[in-house]
Amino acid sequence: MSHTDSAPGKIILFGEHAVVYGRPALAIPVTQVHADVEVLDSSRAGIWIHAPDVNLHAELNTLPSDHPIASVIHNFLFLFRVSPFPNLEIKISSIIPVASGLGSGAAVTVALTRALSSFLSRPMPDEEVNAFAHEIEKLHHGTPSGIDNTVVTYAMPVYFIKGQPIEMFKVGAPFTIVIGDTGISAPTKESVSDVRKLWEADKPKWESVFDRVGKIAEEARKNIENGKWELLGELMDQNHALLQEMTVSSPELDRLVSAARRAGALGAKLSGGGRGGNMIALVESEQAEEVASALMAGGAKRTLTTIVS
Ligand code: MEV
Repeated sequence: MSHTDSAPGKIILFGEHAVVYGRPALAIPVTQVHADVEVLDSSRAGIWIHAPDVNLHAELNTLPSDHPIASVIHNFLFLFRVSPFPNLEIKISSIIPVASGLGSGAAVTVALTRALSSFLSRPMPDEEVNAFAHEIEKLHHGTPSGIDNTVVTYAMPVYFIKGQPIEMFKVGAPFTIVIGDTGISAPTKESVSDVRKLWEADKPKWESVFDRVGKIAEEARKNIENGKWELLGELMDQNHALLQEMTVSSPELDRLVSAARRAGALGAKLSGGGRGGNMIALVESEQAEEVASALMAGGAKRTLTTIVS
């Protein structure tokens, strides 16, 4: 017997970091990249984990309990009071670059949770998978807003406000985004914690910066729903400037953002935690290739083009 599950990557279109402080943000799934998990019976004792992408081949109990993959399995078995532990082989593969703002951690958690839930016949509706994945994100990321696990669990465009019911947004007319990867891995935990330090040192200043980001996200949602996607370019530029002010951009991200704009993108910004990882550019569909080449020439390690529809 075996069960396989998969979860997509994601990008944040608008509102990262400010979303941690209760402002709205928009995120979409990126289905070209995904994490896949297969759970199967094992003839040997123990729970064996194989994740060749991160060079991991180990039995559960030999891993530290705060290991990201081990913590999902332990918490799952604890939640459902599974005893004694079954003998399992768990195969994890992911083509989502790690620590790059594309939601690789959330995707592995969601795919693994669903595969365990099917294999062990412990049904979990999306709501429960999402809440469980948020708890796991908290173990590793300090104070995550929950946007990553939400967009990855529901695999739909999400308008997200922390602690509020999830809203999906409509896309009035499809538009094209080119994603450029700096290739620099940058854990979200660190940039989130640095923004918190800034906020703690001067709350009125940063609350007003977060308000401005929140207004941008609201306006972006209206434009997307009304099919006026061309107007998103200017909003991306404004959002990127505010992210620079929060100190979460980097020379490499700024270089890619400028390269995209020079090649004719309507706007560009970093996406996700920042400091490395990915940026996104809004393009007319016929410009996508030119912008992608300009990103490669500007130092991107890879690019991906996605249509938001
Ligand atoms: C990370 O994809 C988005 C951040 O806003 C962190 C979070 O919301 O938890 C940087």
